Amino acid sequence: MASVDPSQAEAARFAASLIESGMTIGLGSGSTAELFVHRLAERIQKENLRIVGVSTSVSTAELASSLGITLAELDDVAELDLDIDGADEVDPQFQMIKGRGGKLLREKIVAAAARRRMIVVTEAKRVDRLGRHYPVPVEVSSFGISHTERALQELGAQTSIRTDSDGSIVVTDGGNRILDCRFEPIDDPLNLDIQLHRIPGVLETGIFVGLCDVLIVGRENDVVRIDNPRSRSARASST
Ligand code: A5P
Repeated sequence: MASVDPSQAEAARFAASLIESGMTIGLGSGSTAELFVHRLAERIQKENLRIVGVSTSVSTAELASSLGITLAELDDVAELDLDIDGADEVDPQFQMIKGRGGKLLREKIVAAAARRRMIVVTEAKRVDRLGRHYPVPVEVSSFGISHTERALQELGAQTSIRTDSDGSIVVTDGGNRILDCRFEPIDDPLNLDIQLHRIPGVLETGIFVGLCDVLIVGRENDVVRIDNPRSRSARASST
């Protein structure tokens, strides 16, 4: 892995310290999730924890199994206790943009299957409105992609097809393509997500709403945990 931001590393370590033996957990994708997987594997080894992981990507699955973490397929578990993942941007309502690593479809499916979702970020990822720094990644079918792209542009997006550093078009774990859609900072992420999903050819978007119960933020000198007061687990525990 390239050079690691110490606040990102500390946030990932903190998230791993919250894992309890017996849990089935979703393993996110991206550099933060990778740091988390390393720290989790260390704890499993040292403390003999019983953990089953469900991966959101081929790359995370390869890393986790190389570190000795037991994995299951999502369809082989009824529910996940917790999902841990990173994000590209998080707004004050705990809404997010995810998918810079191109794993958004599986990340969203796994997050939706979890009772609680923990998102691990650094302070730099927190924004007042989504779309400040990153485009919204949209996973689309390769079939008829030019038509899907035109429909996205009609919604106001400036689009670009995701390519690798060598210029080749990125193919997702599910065999699809990613169109990065730059919007002006987004006023109503949920409404935009609904509109995007109406376009045939759109398989999933990187707008994640209602999928963050706990935010772990790595800051320069410490790590803070912020519980989403509107999450379903917070509502359940207050009744
Ligand atoms: C993967 O597709 C993404 O959703 C990542 O979770 C997100 O981009 C955060 O990645 P980093 O942890 O590498 O910043």
